[in-house]
Amino acid sequence: MQQVTLQTLKQMKENGEKIAVLTCYDSTFSKISNQAGIDALLVGDTLGMVLQGNDSTLPVTIEHMAYHTACVKKGNNRAFIISDLPFMTYACPEQALKNAGLLMRAGSHMVKLEGDIWLSETIRRLTENGVPVCAHIGLTPQAVNVLGGFKVQGRTEKQAKKLLESAKRLEESGAAMLLLECVPSKLAEKITKAVDIPVIGIGAGVETDAQVLVLHDMLGLNEKTAKFVCNFMEGQSSVQDAIKAYVRAVKDGSFPSQKHQYI
Ligand code: KIV
Repeated sequence: MQQVTLQTLKQMKENGEKIAVLTCYDSTFSKISNQAGIDALLVGDTLGMVLQGNDSTLPVTIEHMAYHTACVKKGNNRAFIISDLPFMTYACPEQALKNAGLLMRAGSHMVKLEGDIWLSETIRRLTENGVPVCAHIGLTPQAVNVLGGFKVQGRTEKQAKKLLESAKRLEESGAAMLLLECVPSKLAEKITKAVDIPVIGIGAGVETDAQVLVLHDMLGLNEKTAKFVCNFMEGQSSVQDAIKAYVRAVKDGSFPSQKHQYI
């Protein structure tokens, strides 16, 4: 099995080949997802909600993230592993460098952080120090208390312009990937075309280079889910088949469909 690298993912964007990403928190699901052909695994701080039962990602610590990254690495033989820097662990470049080091040593290939152009210096320093960065914009769940809830972002012209500008500036700062969460599809398409780095979408329509879903959502384990979620367990008799169906649907562009998109 050939390891998926950042170069592989960039090449996929250039070739117009869709990238299938899924969150993952342990070695068993890591192994199953690899067998199902997933390209990248996100050790997301959503583990604070789907594993720990919290109502936000804020209680997640760097120790939790390093532990779950190490678990995912043990089951992995091909996928590119991205790990979240959790809430309040990258408030300044020095803090980000120290904490990113813990995730990279645990087995991550890239760290993801949530925010805007205020992260530029941190992204530059991380990249210089050998840590590739994915910048998460749009709905940033760690800022739920600032945003006033888990709401679609970029709906006004002013917000949309700001998001597009942020995407370009973050790429210039050295971000090697972007994640766009809960933004109107047209805006996501515009941002994806405006940058050369791969763009992962969740609730961002079908035109982004990659799609990600939270594992527990796509397996139909959560009763209350957002509009962009699809239960891939439906009609399947095993978890591996459900993940295979997800990978197929991302690759052939049938997921997300119109009903999963924000306008
Ligand atoms: O933490 C996470 O799982 C995420 C997803 C919402 C993409 O960032």
